[in-house]
Amino acid sequence: MEFPDSCFLTPNLSPTWHNKLLFLSQFGVGGVVKILVVGNGGREHALAWSLLRSPQVEQVFCAPGNGGTAVMNRCQNIPLTVEDFAGIGQFAQAQGIDLVVVGPEVPLALGITDFLQQQNLKVFGPTRLGAAIEASKAWAKALMQAAGVPTARSAVFTAAEPAKAYVAAQGAPIVVKANGLAAGKGVTVADSVEMAQAAIDAAFGGQFGAAGEQVVIEECLIGQEASILALTDGQTIRPLLPSQDHKRIGEGDTGANTGGMGVYAPAPIVTPALMQRIQAEVLEPTIATLRQRQIDYRGILYAGLMITPQGDPKVIEFNCRFGDPETQAVLPLLETPLLDLLLACVEGRLAEQPAIIWKSAASACVVMASAGYPGSYPKGLPIQGLEQAEATGAIVFHAGTKLENNTMLTDGGRVLGVTAVGQTFADAIAKAYAAIPTIQFAGAYYRRDIGHRVQSLDPLTS
Ligand code: AMP
Ligand code: GLY
Repeated sequence: MEFPDSCFLTPNLSPTWHNKLLFLSQFGVGGVVKILVVGNGGREHALAWSLLRSPQVEQVFCAPGNGGTAVMNRCQNIPLTVEDFAGIGQFAQAQGIDLVVVGPEVPLALGITDFLQQQNLKVFGPTRLGAAIEASKAWAKALMQAAGVPTARSAVFTAAEPAKAYVAAQGAPIVVKANGLAAGKGVTVADSVEMAQAAIDAAFGGQFGAAGEQVVIEECLIGQEASILALTDGQTIRPLLPSQDHKRIGEGDTGANTGGMGVYAPAPIVTPALMQRIQAEVLEPTIATLRQRQIDYRGILYAGLMITPQGDPKVIEFNCRFGDPETQAVLPLLETPLLDLLLACVEGRLAEQPAIIWKSAASACVVMASAGYPGSYPKGLPIQGLEQAEATGAIVFHAGTKLENNTMLTDGGRVLGVTAVGQTFADAIAKAYAAIPTIQFAGAYYRRDIGHRVQSLDPLTS
């Protein structure tokens, strides 16, 4: 059922979504809110999918979206790049978009939120200053120190020689990080001093462009990683369910780092007691320190944690956005309408929002990647069997795909996130893996051991 905006006009009220919702609550009909999701990955497909399950959402647009968002009901792709702020602003104004949800870090770091807010648009995602928490590792480290957040010991360098001398003095293993955004490729966990020094030379030699003009060198943490995606309106901060990504390309967590090859949720390593510590020792002090710096941070604060063998949380990094693939495993467990949560953040009402409701279940997402990823890989290969995969009960989120002449083609390194929800981890993992053989594209690669740490655990009793 569609209502023209004129339905909502009264002498004293403008046709904002507030009035639309008021109208809805009076007349009991759903779906008038229009959302624009910025980005084209699996995360954005999952955001669009989850937002469309929020009863008040009528339509989602994705700029630029992917093959999955192109074929989803009530979803439409808009051919605008994530850096085309002017085009995105014009589209949002013309369509009467009620909320812009920004997926990736690059437009946030470039100030998309600041730009769109100036046009009185509602934007979920921090401003440029807030996005520095991901865009500059040196800045994030200084913030963590000021906030007293537990993290690896580190030092920042602007030239290769002192950095190499520091590494020689510290010894290996040691971690070398380009300061800026490097599409997930700027981190080297070095097993030897030579490897660390080569990474320093590569960064200062221009491998990551301006992102490598400063280098952060860190103590190597050991333990298990966990991802905490926390919603915040700049005052209140609330974690979503914890998840665990699988960063390495190879089974047994071997080989090169990737954007993430699979994930499960809720990660049992983050017990309720540990989550309380993370809230008190990481999330609250970080948001308080951002506030002290006059940074009005509304969006996701993503803490990438190492849980040490002693059970202590240490921050590996902060990101200023939803994780990918984490979002693909976390959102299918969400019962509370995602729209309510995002609006509560944007409007500074998170403290009033009732407790988030989750399914009592587990989820697993297995990434199917192009042959050669995370190195170079072919694009444009036809993908078959997607409908059969969905018919098994799995949710297939598209990451690197495009629809061309009614054919779904590969269009990126991570192609699909095959996701399933089950009563136990074993169920969810088995369901995701059962869907995979129905999907074919040339050279498809996936890890066969996603969830190996929790395979035998029931999420409700662990
Ligand atoms: P990032 O690109 O910052 O997400 O880092 C990529 C990955 O490098 C992380 O997920 C960790 O697996 C690893 N890493 C980064 N910093 C450290 C550290 N200090 N100790 C151990 N591993 C790290
Ligand atoms: N999965 C890791 C990330 O989103 O950065």
